[in-house]
Formats: sequence, structure tokens, C-alpha cells
Amino acid sequence: MAPIFSIIALISGRGSNFQSLVDHQGDYTVTAVVTDKPDAPGLTAAREHGIPIHAFGRGEFPSVAAQKERIFKTVSSLRPDLICLAGYMQIVPENFIRENLGRVVNIHPSLLPKYPGLDTHTRAIAGGETLHGCSVHYVDVGVDTGPVIAQSSCAVSPDDTPESLRLKVLAHEHELYPWVVGGIARGEIDFKNGVVGYTPEIRKEAERRRYSLPFHISSKL
Ligand code: GRF
Repeated sequence: MAPIFSIIALISGRGSNFQSLVDHQGDYTVTAVVTDKPDAPGLTAAREHGIPIHAFGRGEFPSVAAQKERIFKTVSSLRPDLICLAGYMQIVPENFIRENLGRVVNIHPSLLPKYPGLDTHTRAIAGGETLHGCSVHYVDVGVDTGPVIAQSSCAVSPDDTPESLRLKVLAHEHELYPWVVGGIARGEIDFKNGVVGYTPEIRKEAERRRYSLPFHISSKL
């Protein structure tokens, strides 16, 4: 049997991207979910699928730093092939990022580098954008600044509200994230010397799906 490509997801809330990663397993296997919120609604999906849950609530620790230390020690001890942030609301410690270069990915609801941070949909509407969307990127030591792997975009209609736009983008997130993770698991997407690489096949598939893959990569890694 071929070795599995194991991913673990870090979540803090609803977990709809986590659910989508679980639903699209095949080239990769979700071997655990880790959370800083033991009551995160997204954990239901893990229970339903028998995926081990590692939950570390703030109340169990004297400080946020101690909580994070335990969380990221646990993540390291699980030795996953890839760590997928999926609505994980804590900043990942810098030393952890440096030790895991190219092994931590995140999904963000904007066409980065536009609108890093929170409230992206409100800001995209206020900014008069006609296109909005989501990005999957490698995580570096900045906030939403790591090298973009792929993006999926949608039109912003004049009557869109932040909520209607959020739902539109979320549907794109649920397709894009598992697609990227599958590509990494198959070795069709890689990350070497700060540069994201793609096979010609996955480039073609991205074109078919109308995903954009960046040409130039700059990184704080
Ligand atoms: C998503 O919009 C994701 O892009 C962002 O946080 C949100 C998480 O949603 N990082 P969910 O918990 O996956 O439903």
C-alpha cells in the first residue's frame, strides 16, 4: 500500500473548510484536527468521521503563550505531511513557522495581496471591487503575506452585501482548498527555495477551473 499523505487541520470555529477537506479526501488523509476552542462547531465533522480531536481551551492554561506552546507541540508530535489552517484564529508562533517552512498552508477570503486580515468582504465592497475571491497560500511570519499558491475569484454584484459576498466566496473556498491540498499531496505543487512550483498538468487543470496561479513569488520565509 502506498504511504498516505497525512494532513492535519487547525480550526477555531465553524469548520466548513475543514468539512470540505474531509469530504475531498483521497490523495490525502485528514489524520487529526487541532483546535484552541473545544466547543468549535466544526468539531462535529471530526466526530462524525472518527477523526481524532486535540482540543486545548484557553481556560486550561495560565496564559495564551502556554496554550499555544501546547497546541504547536502537539501539532509537531503528530508529524503530518501538511498542516492546513482552516479558520484558525490564533497567530502561529514564528519559531513553528520557521521550523515548518513550506508545510503550513492557509485559506484566506480575499485575492491576496489585497485585503489581508479580517472583514475582507466589507472592505472589498467599500473598496469598489468588481472581483473578489479567495487565496490558498503558504504561511510565513507575516499575517496573510505568504506565497500565494492559487486563487479563485468571483464577480462582486452591485447589490452584494458583505454576507452575500461571504457566501459566494465560501463556495469557492470549499473547492479551491481541497484542490490545492490534493495537488501538494500528489507532488504536483511544491515549494522550494521560496518558490511555488507547478507541473504542466496542474497548470492546465487550474486554467480549466479558472483558478489563477501566480507567476512571481516573494516571501518572508
Ligand atoms: C474562511 O472564510 C477562511 O477563508 C478564513 O476563515 C473562514 C473560516 O471558515 N480563514 P470555516 O470555519 O472554514 O467555515
